[in-house]
Amino acid sequence: MADLSTRVAGLALRNPFLLASGIWGETGESLRGAYEAGAGGVITKSIGRAPRTGYPNPTVEMYDRWGFLNAMGLPNPGIGEYPREIAIARAAGAPVIGSVFGHDAEEFAELAEAMEGAGVAALELNLSCPHAEGLGAEIGSEPEAVERITRAVVSRTRLPVIAKLTPNTHDIAALARAAERGGASAVSAINTVRGMAIDVHLRRPTLAHGMGGLSGPAIKPVGLACVFQIHRAVRIPVIGVGGIVTAEDALEYLLAGARAVQIGTAVALDGIGVFGTLVRDLGRRLDELGVAGLEELIGAAHRTEAASSGTGDAL
Ligand SMILES: Cc1cc2nc3c(=O)[nH]c(=O)nc-3n(C[C@H](O)[C@H](O)[C@H](O)COP(=O)(O)O)c2cc1C
Repeated sequence: MADLSTRVAGLALRNPFLLASGIWGETGESLRGAYEAGAGGVITKSIGRAPRTGYPNPTVEMYDRWGFLNAMGLPNPGIGEYPREIAIARAAGAPVIGSVFGHDAEEFAELAEAMEGAGVAALELNLSCPHAEGLGAEIGSEPEAVERITRAVVSRTRLPVIAKLTPNTHDIAALARAAERGGASAVSAINTVRGMAIDVHLRRPTLAHGMGGLSGPAIKPVGLACVFQIHRAVRIPVIGVGGIVTAEDALEYLLAGARAVQIGTAVALDGIGVFGTLVRDLGRRLDELGVAGLEELIGAAHRTEAASSGTGDAL
């Protein structure tokens, strides 16, 4: 059986499948459940300084199997309560990545210190939520802000720092370069794609907040293009996320340059058992392809002629 282990941002993972932030990871029990179901590691819900209730309902809309539109408004219990949840996941042996969000560099850095105190193995900075005022993509679409926030966090923690980037920009490679300059150990791409839906009968947006973020299979081509572009722009590793439901989807991301991938909406669609299925199917697929380990696949799509003379140059 092929070796699925990988290394990213200083973490040794048994397989490349990480639980993405916000879909299943609010409690310690749910984080532990994802790891026990087969995930290589887990990322917490994005945690802020104080408890937040998020936006009123409806906050999530589902389109068959192709996507979710959500505007949750970053509900979370606040950093004060959260370390005990992390302890539950750590006790099960899970590599836990702590996701944080803040309004400015100082807030991010304070949260990073608190997460480090809680024993996480790495940090992910949510610089990319598309629907929270003064947070996420509102600050994370400026390269200067990405660099400043990343640098502030890196200077205040010993942990590897992963910057999670937004696709809601004309140049995601510039954001990745800014994260690299700021000292990030890796970048994650992508968070949700800004979108909305309108109820024709009610003549108003279906989500209470109006705008939301699109996730799931509908955004896989967007995420893949972003990972492909970033892989060419920086030396630090890329973690791919967006629309991965099958092992074949994950393979595409690996070929585009991702060293690990995150699974979000697929957990909501198919349940936590999706991790076991992905691990089994990716192992089988590698065996079929005669590939011994992930290393020979990562970024391989860049080495083909089509990528260097055709679509790749257009990027
Ligand atoms: C309901 C919901 C909540 C989310 N919450 C967060 C969050 O707290 N922090 C974050 O960085 N990303 C959050 N995301 C974005 C996901 O982590 C992921 O980047 C995105 O959904 C694309 O991956 P997917 O298509 O596999 O879901 C959320 C996504 C959804 C659908």
